[in-house]
Amino acid sequence: MLEVKQVHVAFKNQLLLQNASFTVEDASITCLVAPNGTGKTALLNVICGLLPSKTGGIKCNGISLRSKRRAFLHQLFFVQNADDLFANLTVKDHLRYVKKMWQSRIDIARVLTQVELTTSQNKQIQQLSLDKKQQLLLAMAIVSDAPVVLMDEPLNGLDVEATQKFEQIFMSLREQGKTLLIASHQLDSVGRVSDKILFLKEQQILTVENLGQDIATQYAEMYLI
Ligand SMILES: Nc1ncnc2c1ncn2[C@@H]1O[C@H](COP(=O)(O)OP(=O)(O)OP(=O)(O)O)[C@@H](O)[C@H]1O
Ligand SMILES: [Mg+2]
Repeated sequence: MLEVKQVHVAFKNQLLLQNASFTVEDASITCLVAPNGTGKTALLNVICGLLPSKTGGIKCNGISLRSKRRAFLHQLFFVQNADDLFANLTVKDHLRYVKKMWQSRIDIARVLTQVELTTSQNKQIQQLSLDKKQQLLLAMAIVSDAPVVLMDEPLNGLDVEATQKFEQIFMSLREQGKTLLIASHQLDSVGRVSDKILFLKEQQILTVENLGQDIATQYAEMYLI
């Protein structure tokens, strides 16, 4: 379980989160939803310790980010932006690196097949299209075998077929017991895969169960009306 308690995040002139708290259950998919510039990416960065929170605390499976940072980070994989991949390294280099860092036993060849990257495995990142980079980020998360995976807009730039494929992989990871926290603007996908939705509004997190309601309507009521 991921527990975020009373975090406070601000940049120079902008308050993004004020005493925001929420939990993410094990073996679930939780989507983080809010308009551009609200603080979704900042929140993911705070959860994985890349940005500080002035107050509160974050725990992953009972391990505190503040007091046991290394053990905390081992529980978690953050699929950052495709821009953060190493341009001169290959697809396989990235997966080998993740496997080593997370001391995982996951078979890289099997994951390459699963995300349909086998034929691209020896290509450098600079040779890849955006969808292939997104596939690699997902493959890295799978290879890490971390119990908690954070993803920032993993469906960006994907066509309908690739989106469906990603949704299936998210759901199969949940079946395997993985915990996914996904920031996304793709509200149809959010509706199909999520157990809970975290709406970021007025520096707070509102947790809503996905009971099959129309997420686009809920979004409009929350932000547009
Ligand atoms: N390093 C930084 N220094 C100062 N301001 C920042 C920094 N990073 C982000 N911001 C600002 O914080 C706000 C929230 O940014 P963030 O990227 O977290 O939003 P977001 O919800 O992820 O948006 P999007 O949906 O466009 O990805 C924005 O106004 C952004 O300009
Ligand atoms: Mg963002």
